[in-house]
Amino acid sequence: MKPAVFVMRALPGGIPEAVRASCEVLGGDRAPPARETLPEVARGAETLVVTYLDRVDGPLLAALPAVRRVCSYGVGVNHVDLPACRERGVVLTNTPDVLTDATADLAMALLLAAARRVAEGDRLIRAGAWRAVAPDFFLGTEVSGKVLGIVGFGRIGQAVARRALGFSLRVLYSGPREVAFPGAERVGLDRLLSESDFVSLHCPLNEETRNLLSRDRIARMKRGAVVVNTARGPVLDEEALADAIEDGRLFAAGLDVFRDEPNVPPRLRTLERVVLTPHVGSGTVETRTAMAGLVWEEVLRAVAGRAPAHPVP
Ligand code: DGY
Repeated sequence: MKPAVFVMRALPGGIPEAVRASCEVLGGDRAPPARETLPEVARGAETLVVTYLDRVDGPLLAALPAVRRVCSYGVGVNHVDLPACRERGVVLTNTPDVLTDATADLAMALLLAAARRVAEGDRLIRAGAWRAVAPDFFLGTEVSGKVLGIVGFGRIGQAVARRALGFSLRVLYSGPREVAFPGAERVGLDRLLSESDFVSLHCPLNEETRNLLSRDRIARMKRGAVVVNTARGPVLDEEALADAIEDGRLFAAGLDVFRDEPNVPPRLRTLERVVLTPHVGSGTVETRTAMAGLVWEEVLRAVAGRAPAHPVP
């Protein structure tokens, strides 16, 4: 009998022939099954294929006792209960590296769009509201020569720094480790927030980073700064951010991630100075295809009894 793999939802490119040949594939529909049906529909699965949208917690693992490996499509693993995996000897894998550049590109796109009011200008023209041609009409904030503070200086944070240096930004970063990165200076979070004209979030979501950009910290940011979030919604206080933009203390924000996706707070949706994208940091054809490729490689390793290529420590 072939080992069973349960695929929570379809990944780009479908299920490769090699996977079908070595496993009994369960699930894989476009929409995931209702959670309460999982013990039934995924019964006997030794490997689970999930995405960052699928919560993997203790009760789920308890209901699926055959599961030995969880292969997650994406780099963030805040949707998975790591202690529950550890307790049950379940190995978790993710898809790092392949999405670094795409996510860094989107962070820069949001930074530039927020600074130069790109989405707002687009809306203005589409609404037929562009009438003025005055020299002080529709001014943004300059990017070159300013300070970018990067919170979390892992692979994606560093990729943003590389891009930022090309835009003549001075780069500060905060994070648990010193990184040898010419042109970037490590500082404490408070100094980063008080000196940065742009703050881009690139830390994982965990108990230490939940609400990291709190109301209190937002209040201590440099006046006129821009916030970019391509990490995870709960890292920042969305209401406090909206207040700060509304009352003019912050210039703008570019947000790709939200606390309760796909629900974006109405206030953020109505603020002209907030540029919004629907959690698409890794959303290019090339990157999403490469991520799916890594997931299937992990599945094949699992069924062959081989060590995972990208285990989450
Ligand atoms: C990730 O990889 O964690 C992204 O946020 C999902 O595309």
